[in-house]
Amino acid sequence: MAPYIGTSISRVDGHAKVTGAAKYAAEYNAPDLAYGIVVTSAIAKGRIRHIETSEALRISGVIDVLTHQNRPEMASTDSGYKDELAPDGSPFRPLYDDKIMFSGQPIALVVAENTDIARSAASLVRVDYDRNPHVTDVYRQRDAATPVKSPSNPLEALFTPPKPRGSAEQALASAAVRHTGEYYVPIEHHNPMELYASTVFWDGDGKLTVYDKTQGVQNVQRYLCGVFGIDPGDVRVMSPYMGGGFGSGLRPQYQVVLAVLAVRALERSVRVVLTRQQMYGLGYRPAMIQRIELGAAADGTLEAMTHEAITVTSQYEDFYRQETGWSGLLYKCANAKYAHKLARLDLATSCDMRCPSAATGVYALECAMDELAVALKLDPLKLRLGCYSDRDQNSERPYSSKSLRDCYHRAAEAFGWHQRNPQPRSMHDGNELVGWGMATGVWDALQMPITARISLSSNGHAEVSCATSDIGTGTYTIMTQVAADLLGLPLENISVKLGDSTLPQSPVEGGSWIAASVANAIAEACAEVRNELFRLAKSAPGSPLTDAMPGDVVLVDGKIASKRDVNRAMTITDAMRQGMVDRIERERTYNAQPDEKYSHNTHQAVFAEVMVDEQLGVIRVTRIVIAVAAGRIINTKTAHSQIMGAAVWGIGMALHEETLIDHTFGRIMNADIAGYHVPVNADVHDIQVIFVDEPDDIVNPLGIKGLGEIGIVGVAAAIANAVYHATGKRVRDLPITLDKLGR
Ligand code: MOS
Repeated sequence: MAPYIGTSISRVDGHAKVTGAAKYAAEYNAPDLAYGIVVTSAIAKGRIRHIETSEALRISGVIDVLTHQNRPEMASTDSGYKDELAPDGSPFRPLYDDKIMFSGQPIALVVAENTDIARSAASLVRVDYDRNPHVTDVYRQRDAATPVKSPSNPLEALFTPPKPRGSAEQALASAAVRHTGEYYVPIEHHNPMELYASTVFWDGDGKLTVYDKTQGVQNVQRYLCGVFGIDPGDVRVMSPYMGGGFGSGLRPQYQVVLAVLAVRALERSVRVVLTRQQMYGLGYRPAMIQRIELGAAADGTLEAMTHEAITVTSQYEDFYRQETGWSGLLYKCANAKYAHKLARLDLATSCDMRCPSAATGVYALECAMDELAVALKLDPLKLRLGCYSDRDQNSERPYSSKSLRDCYHRAAEAFGWHQRNPQPRSMHDGNELVGWGMATGVWDALQMPITARISLSSNGHAEVSCATSDIGTGTYTIMTQVAADLLGLPLENISVKLGDSTLPQSPVEGGSWIAASVANAIAEACAEVRNELFRLAKSAPGSPLTDAMPGDVVLVDGKIASKRDVNRAMTITDAMRQGMVDRIERERTYNAQPDEKYSHNTHQAVFAEVMVDEQLGVIRVTRIVIAVAAGRIINTKTAHSQIMGAAVWGIGMALHEETLIDHTFGRIMNADIAGYHVPVNADVHDIQVIFVDEPDDIVNPLGIKGLGEIGIVGVAAAIANAVYHATGKRVRDLPITLDKLGR
């Protein structure tokens, strides 16, 4: 039996997904299920003066219309609504009172015998508002933006601001070559394929089973207990499958509150599914204005940098990450200074979206580096290799591993970078201009405390369980691989249970921290199982392992065997039968405490080719090569899919994606996938993914770093830099649409 870790294994849940056997939150049924449709605010700020539901209630089949006036009791303090990832401020309380804080805010829930009736009745709910002036334009608020404060939530504090070093102003003033640029990333929305939904079963006696679309079942479970004062034993939250989250399901979404409100009001089961449009009233990637100044010596030695960011949040919570931190970390540069301000808008609170802060902060940094290379008349790859740093420049620590140099070399070679003519507009293909650009990517290798349970039966089947989610990244599959290898069993003998709040503890699945965390927890639990099997095998009559020590044995091919002589072995089944045990169950908490002497990061190099139609300005991304260094790759197939998906998303970020707001009404104008453009097949051409070998026995025992986020980081910058190389036109505002090229 070959080891499974490091190989290309198809998703163990693939069959269930393509046959429809895998059920999603909106697919669970109960005989008496009622259906809720959300009514949302048409104004961005103010109060509900009057809400008229009588017309809706007269429709046959309508069961109830819940508003802030007739809803069941909810918590009256902020702490009741604080989830695991709540930033500082007052969390949003759905249907709490008459206050309107953003357009698209839920203000009523119509519950009916079926969805059609509920939707029809929802259109009959009449609302009178008292309107207040609102602001939704970050450029109007930039002067009112205030410096970020240190967050009090310890999870939030993971993203600590970098310390300034040296004297950036002085060094800039005396630098031989300088570049200053302002970069803009608009609000973007996650748009996962699955709509947000909650199906809540009334189990009688106030007990609830909640099927919810979430990246963290235990986060939602604790949150519901806080909001409704429910005993933790009375609410179970399940999310066995998820059709994409990308950060939008890290915090509990309002539809789960509305569904539980309705269930408690009616004492019957209720499902609430948001429409695509309503999902634009959830979180989003905050718009950000970034200003970067770089100063270098004539030979390209980076001497100074400043990075200022203004990012967007709501009026009621301070959500932010560290856009500027990545600039401080990545390159050797003696003088650096940072500033980060928050602009408050009358929108819902912004939130994490795939590779929060790095996708955007590194976009600005890597475009600025390209512009500096142009000013220096230096190859952009040579500039980066020249200020390459083997130490984390923020904390002055070495990395547990950093194979970024290999990423640069491998990707450049695969791309054919040495054939690039540095002159903009110098490369052609027919009537298209050809541009080649490159960029760096960096992300954290985070780990969180997590618990895994292994339950091994004497028939050689093992169940692995943990409350984590599989947001679509392949968690079921990698958990299966790790357990199979460490128990010495074939894949088909392993079953994985996750996405259930009653299972062993897990944080939300985000930040690319689950793969490393859960795999090491499984490894620790498997070691406990192995010790127990060893104890049983050793004491069996005529045991071949009588004189072995616990450290001398491995589990392999369904047996417990001596490392020195695999012929000295006993099958797992025999060991358990001899010991008269039919189940071994072990639970272990992996409490990641990475060595403080080192920084732990993943890296990436991206090379992109664009072709730009000279007459029309149409941009096509014809080639992307990405090399990733992310420690040990557990599954080359699912990992490849993650990076390829990220490259596609990077194309969207560079060329297509932008949430547009009509500032007169404070309302999102393109709240659907027709108006909010994402790449389609015709936009996606050749994408090559390379994994660079990166052994790392410091980051954790299995050497895993996680790679959900790293893929997208440098992609938009590489494309933007390629567009400049093709056209000679520098567009710093994303997305790079053809109207901007023509200006
Ligand atoms: Mo992560 S921000 O949940 O993609």
